[in-house]
Parts: sequence; C-alpha cells; structure tokens
Amino acid sequence: MIAKYIRDKILQGDWFIGMKIPSHRNLAEQFDVNRVTIIKSIELLESEGFILTKKGSGTYVKDYLNTHATMNNWAHTMEWSIKERSEYTVQLINKLETDPNYLHISKGELGKSLIPETKLQQAMVTVSSYISDLSFGYNNGYGYLNLRKLIAKRLQETGIDLNYENILITSGSLHAIQLLTTGFLSQNTTILFNTPSYIESTHVFDSFNIKKVRIPYTNLYNFKNIIANYSIKTEKALYIEPTYNNPTGESISIKTRKEIMRYSQIHNIPIIEDDIYRDLYFTSNSVPPIKSLDKTGNVIHISSFSKSVAPALRIGWIAAPEMLIERLADIRMQSDYGSSILSQMVIYELLKNDNFDEHVKQLRHILKDKRDYMLDVLNQHFSHIATWKIPNGGFFIWITFEKNIDIKQLFFDLINKEKILINPGYIYGSKDNTVRLSFAYETLENIYHALIKIKHYATLNANK
Ligand SMILES: Cc1ncc(COP(=O)(O)O)c(C=O)c1O
Repeated sequence: MIAKYIRDKILQGDWFIGMKIPSHRNLAEQFDVNRVTIIKSIELLESEGFILTKKGSGTYVKDYLNTHATMNNWAHTMEWSIKERSEYTVQLINKLETDPNYLHISKGELGKSLIPETKLQQAMVTVSSYISDLSFGYNNGYGYLNLRKLIAKRLQETGIDLNYENILITSGSLHAIQLLTTGFLSQNTTILFNTPSYIESTHVFDSFNIKKVRIPYTNLYNFKNIIANYSIKTEKALYIEPTYNNPTGESISIKTRKEIMRYSQIHNIPIIEDDIYRDLYFTSNSVPPIKSLDKTGNVIHISSFSKSVAPALRIGWIAAPEMLIERLADIRMQSDYGSSILSQMVIYELLKNDNFDEHVKQLRHILKDKRDYMLDVLNQHFSHIATWKIPNGGFFIWITFEKNIDIKQLFFDLINKEKILINPGYIYGSKDNTVRLSFAYETLENIYHALIKIKHYATLNANK
C-alpha cells in the first residue's frame, strides 16, 4: 500500500525527480505503521529505480528517465521557477483542509452556517440579470467600477482619505500581496514584517532576491529603535498585520500605529497594511487603520471579503496612491485581465444595501460566542498544560503549550489517530511551543470534541 502510494505520487508527477520525499518518520506517522514497514517499501521502490537514498541526507525521487522513458524531468524544469514549494506541513494542511472527514480546528475560514447563504443567493439572482449588460465582457485591470466606488466609500468611513481611483480589485489579499511583490517591490528589496505572521506560511516574498527581516509582533511598539538599528542599504518595505494578527489574534495600539507611520515616513519605508480581519471585532470597534493616519501616500492598504463573506468568491482590494494603482492595473492586463467580474458583481450586490452590514454585525456576535466557548473549554481543561491570550477579534486563539510537549508529534498524532487538524505555530515562524486554534469553522460540539482529544494527546506526549 505504501509503495503504491509513493509510486503513484511519482508517476502522477506530484513528487518530481530530485524532490526529497517525506522522512521515514513522517511516512510511518501518516500510515500509522512502524518504521520497518516503511523501510521495506523504500527498498522495493529503490529496486524498481524510482527513488534513491542518500546516506545522512534523505530519500529522493530518482532521475529514472532511463527506466521509465515517458516521464518529463520536471525537477530540472522547476529549478528555474521563481516560487519555492511550501514546507511539508503546509502542503499537508492545504491538502487535508478540504477533506470533510477531518475536524478543522485549523481552518482560517467561516463555517458553513456563518456564510450568508440566503443573502448571497439573492445577490447571485440579481447578478444573473446583468448577463445582457456590456460590462460582462473583458474588463479593465482596475476592477468593476461600481464595486470600487462602494469599497472607497466604506474605507472613507474608517477615516481613510481616498476615492475609487485609489482602489484596485484583486482576487483576494494573498493575490494583492503577490501583485505588489511583482509590481511594486524592486529586486533585492528588504521586506520587514511582523512575526509570527500569516506571510511565513506562504512563499509570497521568496522571489526576486527579496531579503526578509522579521520584527517580533510584541516589539512593534519599538519600531523607531528597531529601524534606527538597521542600516539597510537596499530598498525597504514593511508588511504588517496590525489588526487581529494571524496567528496570534493580537493587535497593535493606536500609539504604535502612529509611531510606525511616522518612522516609516522618515526612513522612506512604504507600508503594506494587511487588514483582512478588521470587521471582525468583539468588543469596541477595531483600532483605526494605519492608512487612516497616512497623509503622504506611504501606506498601501489591502483586504478582502474572504473572512467576512466567503473565500470562494476570491475578491479583495488594494487601496493605494493612483500612480501605483495604474501600474498594478497595467500588470493585471499583462497577466490575467483582472478578477472574475461575476464575483465582483455578487459582492457589489451584497454591499449595495444593508445586507453586508447586517450579516457582519450578526457574524461578530456569533464569533464572539464561539470564542467564549473555546475559552471556557480551554480554562476547564488546558490550564495545566498551556497558556493563551484572549483575542478581541478575528478567528484564532494562539496557545503556548508546556515545553515538554512535542508540537510536531501532537500535530501528526491528531491527524493519524483522530482525523483532527490543528495548525502548529512553527508554520507561522514561531519558535515557541505554539498552536493556532480556530473557533471560526467548526460547530461548538466539534470544537469540544477536538479540544478534549488535543488535551489527551498533548498529555500523553508530555508524559513520554
Ligand atoms: C493575514 C492574512 N492575509 C491574507 C490572507 C489571504 O486571504 P485571501 O483569501 O483574501 O487571499 C489571509 C488568509 O488566511 C490572512 O490571514
């Protein structure tokens, strides 16, 4: 079974020539078998010429073109790719996250019952009447004008001074960052970013020789001194998640935002402000965006509807000075002619009346209740093995386990033995014993069940 799994992966091109295959330990955990079984399968595949074990280094997919003449040498071709592969844990999470047989305590998205189904259906019915409309053809690279106007209006309400010419529609926030990386950051730029960070779980800045400088989230208040201590010769930019950071759920104060704004101006460091969780506050309204403090066009504000409506629509935006928007729109025309107009129209219909606001207001209440429930279970069952902070918005509780608990082992035990997915903190750049728990996706019942299992395996793991 294991040999077939590996052989299929290679023959289907998922595992390509030159790629290091998962370690014996990971495979043993994945299939819940002992290492001897794995070694036997590896030996069989070696004898078939599919893989090669390099002593002290690992097992690799072999250049078996001679024996299996129809395969392309993708590994060689992909050496030229500007994108690296995600790390193994991230690839596994991405794969299992769409599997309905798992409990998703990892997932950074709304559960089914929180998606505004009826309102979306109404919006889609209205959009279906647009088909005869002229705007149903290729659009320009800026996005659907009506939607740009509505987003501009909504941003003005948060104190940001702009109009629709400053808005470009993207296919989500990650796409916005990708677009900014290609269209605005120059080669050899140094990108400063908060850590832990969502961005660590992607390779979005790993191209064009971009250098990375990590600023611990809890040190952001000290931005002035951090910047003063760096003598960075290349172009610089700052990526920051100021509101309900993914994964920690923390935000930075208005004082820190002002400090960051001021010193980024003095040192000429443009800011990419990723504000995707802004609408999801549980107590008072979120702290104003850094962009609302910007008088010189230094801040690029990005967000999307993935967290408040549904990621499947793939609609987000960039709010920035017009010159930059024009440049990015030109890149869109060179690369994909813009985001799906259909999705843009659906979002427009949802935003046009009070439907969106009503939905988000309700969403905030439900998410807060779910957060409180998760906190109750944590308080009852986890106080002896972990600590955590109370997030004031967003989707996540970031918990730090006792040092003697092996998080990687916990992650694989939960997958292999219970079909439960958690996100280990190391994929976000955390060096501590951390895990990101999401209360957004699963039902209360499933959250309870999963947390009890997590506690069980963490306790077993600690006693080893
Ligand atoms: C901070 C942050 N930025 C960007 C994204 C990407 O979201 P989108 O679906 O809009 O591409 C995520 C998704 O988890 C996120 O947490």
